[in-house]
Amino acid sequence: MASAPPAPRASQPLPFADPQQLDPALQDFLDQATAQLCRWLGSAAHRPPLPGLSVLPAVEPQQLGLSSDTLLRDLQLVIDGAYNPNHPGALAHLDPPPLQASVVGDLICAGLNNNMLAEELSPSLSRLERSLLAWLAERLGLPAGSGGVAASGGTLSNLMALVTARRSRGLQTCQEAVVLASADAHVSLAKSIAVMGLPTSALQTIAVDCEGRLEVEQLQARLEAFAAAGIPVLAVVATAGTTVRGAVDPLGPIAALCRRHGVWLHVDGAIGAVFGLASGHADRVEGLGFADSITLNPQKLLGITKTSSVLLLAQPQTLADAFGTGLPYMEPSWGGGHGGDTGLQGTRPAEILKLWLGLRQLGLTGIEAILDGAIARRRHLQALLVSDTDLVLRSGPLHLLAFTPASGDAAYAEEWSQRTRQALLAEQLMLSRPWYQGRHHLKAVLGNPHTQSSHLVHLAQLVQGQSKP
Ligand SMILES: Cc1ncc(COP(=O)(O)O)c(C=O)c1O
Repeated sequence: MASAPPAPRASQPLPFADPQQLDPALQDFLDQATAQLCRWLGSAAHRPPLPGLSVLPAVEPQQLGLSSDTLLRDLQLVIDGAYNPNHPGALAHLDPPPLQASVVGDLICAGLNNNMLAEELSPSLSRLERSLLAWLAERLGLPAGSGGVAASGGTLSNLMALVTARRSRGLQTCQEAVVLASADAHVSLAKSIAVMGLPTSALQTIAVDCEGRLEVEQLQARLEAFAAAGIPVLAVVATAGTTVRGAVDPLGPIAALCRRHGVWLHVDGAIGAVFGLASGHADRVEGLGFADSITLNPQKLLGITKTSSVLLLAQPQTLADAFGTGLPYMEPSWGGGHGGDTGLQGTRPAEILKLWLGLRQLGLTGIEAILDGAIARRRHLQALLVSDTDLVLRSGPLHLLAFTPASGDAAYAEEWSQRTRQALLAEQLMLSRPWYQGRHHLKAVLGNPHTQSSHLVHLAQLVQGQSKP
């Protein structure tokens, strides 16, 4: 007679949430972890934006699993070494403090552990994503019926836009097709070209004017030259908010040219498109609604926790045409397409949850207030520095301001930027040091709502106190 299979060995319960009743161990773990996080956020002003060297805990799992107390102790070591975006002097990059509801959204997203790949793995969240993206698209001026997909970062949104544009023009196998963008467009376009298997020469850059905006006349000349030579243009990419100075390309005139030439217009609004959400600021990105596709990164100014980017399209079906493969291992979609069939990513988290909660926590008034504050701080710093004739200031209509010594060569600008950044860091003010137009600059991103006028006055004094040639 065959012997019965051995019964599973009784052992320590594995650390999954109890499905029968509220799990006191999980509740306690979460309470302690969130208290730890709240203490870190609540003491941000007493630590510098950029921490010193920190101790890294052991990284490899031990033979036996660790208790939540030990995990939280080790976690604190990692937290202690983290960049500190909630400090009022954190002004270096497009990485603002996290919005409260968005932190909660990320936590709940992890707990729900749904998958945007397919509707049966995220029934309510798939619908939420479709509905919120349709609202966002129309709010930015895209036509009725527009929509899009969430993506883990603006690089991915730009890549999906170009792949979709290429497919919509039937250029999938064409190696000669080109993309036109300004010389100040983001590096993610070069990355996209590489991923798409095109030669680096496929990215054709157009000069910018003295305000950092794409020169429309040059674009027109290049479009005409390519048409005459029979070279297909896969897309024009206009930037709404360039990375160093926040310039916005002339979207209306560029859209008119694209329409005339039958070319797809993608607007990389990773930085600037968010201004289109508020009636008091929409004119900063006028013409956004003429685009075929728009990248918008709520992570860059609204405080939606990373990552939060969306690709919005006037005709969302083009996205499904470009990426749809069918998902033969899933039940058919019942609502409007599986997430995994309407974008590049397969399994992906429900990042829409924190965006939805965050936007609703802010309301339209709160969104406008964030934008008002960012613009006011940029204007204030600009006014403090503008009288310094030793500096050249570079900005645009948004919340970024870059500056560099007016004289001296590139080597001098590098030395000055390093020295000044260190002097600022010593006073807990963090700026970045971009290389732009052949020399180093210092860049302030004024999207941090904790930054006060006194911080900016101090910053300007420190910058002006540094010797220049
Ligand atoms: C204009 C612009 N587009 C795209 C990106 C890429 O976004 P992400 O870093 O989320 O991939 C950036 C990043 O700074 C950017 O400045």
